[in-house]
Amino acid sequence: MVERSGAILSSVVASQLAAHARYGGVVPEIASREHGRAIVPVVRTAMREAGLTWTDLAAIAVTVGPGLIGSLLVGATYAKSLSYALDLPLIAVNHVEGHIHAVILEARQRGTPVQFPALALVVSGGHTHLFSVSDRFEYKLLGKTRDDAAGEAFDKVGKLLGFGYPGGPVIDMLAPHGNPRAIRFTLAKLRDGNALDFSFSGLKTAVLRWFQAQEMQDEVESRHALLAQHPRPTREQWLTVTPRRTLDVVASFQHTVITELLARVRPSAEQIGAKSLIVSGGVACNSGLRRTAAGSGFGVPVHFPSLALSTDNAVMIAAAAFSKFEDADFAGLDAPVYAQLPL
Ligand code: KG4
Ligand code: ZN
Repeated sequence: MVERSGAILSSVVASQLAAHARYGGVVPEIASREHGRAIVPVVRTAMREAGLTWTDLAAIAVTVGPGLIGSLLVGATYAKSLSYALDLPLIAVNHVEGHIHAVILEARQRGTPVQFPALALVVSGGHTHLFSVSDRFEYKLLGKTRDDAAGEAFDKVGKLLGFGYPGGPVIDMLAPHGNPRAIRFTLAKLRDGNALDFSFSGLKTAVLRWFQAQEMQDEVESRHALLAQHPRPTREQWLTVTPRRTLDVVASFQHTVITELLARVRPSAEQIGAKSLIVSGGVACNSGLRRTAAGSGFGVPVHFPSLALSTDNAVMIAAAAFSKFEDADFAGLDAPVYAQLPL
């Protein structure tokens, strides 16, 4: 629940990671069912924590894509039911726009508002996109991944090395224990097309080749055994089953992803005359990315979301809805949901 002032009245997130962890990734059918199970209690809790009743609401915002259709349908159907029953306007929000607005909202609340035009780097499990953002919230896509998203690369490498799902947080936790320069993974070279595009599949294959060249079976099995005992092992527990050579590959992989991401930022910022940089999406939790971006000397303020608003949440969807509310840009009860939805 977000107030017009930008104050966050409540933020409730139901995690379904545990339901997917044993499959090593998100299973769409399970995702829809978990959404269906969680949505009513989550909204009730958010209302209670905000101290609101239905009549206090001015509008219902919901994401209509991009994403998994089943999960989107659960959210959109419930939002439409609320909108109809309470006679409130319905606002359809692009998920990626939400990630950008989480940062704009928090920066404003902190008293350091984002200056425009801003360059936005959205890095999540599904996206690695660079946008130019105007003060009227118009978006221009400058570059995007040609293959895997950055978060997907973290998750695939994490799975390969036996760190379970999602791999991003574990790799982040262990990277400081290895040498980021131990293995020189080459950066993606895109021969044709947009120089601001990203590519992570070559890096993923390079880690796979490294993996295949080692005797890794016992090591990976010991990590799987740890995961079977503790669904979320601590850093110390991981370190007991992760030798130096693997910590080095983890650190080198993360270092390469960060270098690849930030290498596109400087030329994009120059191209649009950016007055600030926004980094958002689940991978924006990464402490190495935060540290490196802050120390990169881009010459403009760098805004990250709080950790809680970096990964998927509802506050970001409400935050993106305000300008649409002001423009009376409302959706009908027949509004579709989209697996793919360009911003
Ligand atoms: O934005 P998000 O919650 O969901 C999508 O819209 O995809 O992002 C989830 C992604 C996962 O791939 C996860 O591994 C990654 O964010 N992630 C991280 C970290 N925390 C989450 N990647 C690197 N370092 C982290 N600390
Ligand atoms: Zn997301």
